[in-house]
Amino acid sequence: MPSKISVIGAGNVGATSAQRIAERGYADVVLVDIIEGLPQGKALDILQSAPVINFKTAITGSNDYKDTAGSEVVIVTAGLFRKPGMTRDQLLAANTEIVTGVINNAVKYSPECIILMVSNPLDAMTYLAVKASKFPRKRVVGLSGVLDSARLSTFIAAELNVPVADISAWVLGAHGLNMVVIPQLSAVRGKPLTGLLPEETIARLVERTIHGGREIVDLLKTGSAFYAPSAGIARMAESIVLDKKEILPCAALLDGEYGIKDSVIGVPVKLGKGGIEQIVEFELSAEEKQRLYDSAEGIKTLIKQMGV
Ligand code: APR
Repeated sequence: MPSKISVIGAGNVGATSAQRIAERGYADVVLVDIIEGLPQGKALDILQSAPVINFKTAITGSNDYKDTAGSEVVIVTAGLFRKPGMTRDQLLAANTEIVTGVINNAVKYSPECIILMVSNPLDAMTYLAVKASKFPRKRVVGLSGVLDSARLSTFIAAELNVPVADISAWVLGAHGLNMVVIPQLSAVRGKPLTGLLPEETIARLVERTIHGGREIVDLLKTGSAFYAPSAGIARMAESIVLDKKEILPCAALLDGEYGIKDSVIGVPVKLGKGGIEQIVEFELSAEEKQRLYDSAEGIKTLIKQMGV
């Protein structure tokens, strides 16, 4: 029997994720939204691409959480997105309410699922999901570093005119202005970036990565990014459902790792059937560790505001 993945929120990020997952063919997909007809219409449209693309998995839309029952992974994209001039953190109050409701409904029907958080502000929403679900922390993970690292890789590839496949980049920390880019860990065919580009160029690419989401919000004006986010979501979901155990930079609740407790930030995690099967501790310099610590402290401020 194929695996089952539910995607909550049938907007840009949710529907594109559902499409990517359905096309890969490793899981049946249920798309849920509060707007009547929206998930049903989008799911039907995606399903009608199956004869052309040639995938066999089922995709359905619903306004009822009953249809999500028994999901292995529940992906939460429900909520507001930011408009030009807004930071992700300004979505906190509205999305806290939406995400709390979504999590309560989702875990009622899929008590054994892995929750993949996407709604922003991502790290705070991931923390909220752990608390609201009462799941062990290994079963709640958030999309952050896969997306931010993909953005950095894209910029490095363009700068050096090399294939993106040759690049490995690691962006850790908060999914926001306090993200932690570690150039020493970014490499082209194993050669650290620090030896390939001048410091000012690296600084410019890092800066563009930090504001990568805002650049797209400013261009779109009526929406935020969804193609690269959905690619990251599909990669993470696949690693979980197919038990690939990929090591990816993801948001996780920390309990002493990297010297951080009771906060969520992006760290390297091993993602498999059990969710976060391991938090991998890279060797970092004292200065890099301090930046991660400060990033996690910033998230604690948001957590306090949520009052969970
Ligand atoms: N339950 C289910 N769906 C909901 C709920 C809810 N309580 N509240 C809102 N939604 C749905 C909306 O109806 C909408 O279809 O969530 C969807 C959000 O889609 P978009 O507005 O297109 O936003 P999107 O770009 O997909 O971003 C969603 O992901 O990347 C983050 O910052 C982004 O927080 C935002 C989220």
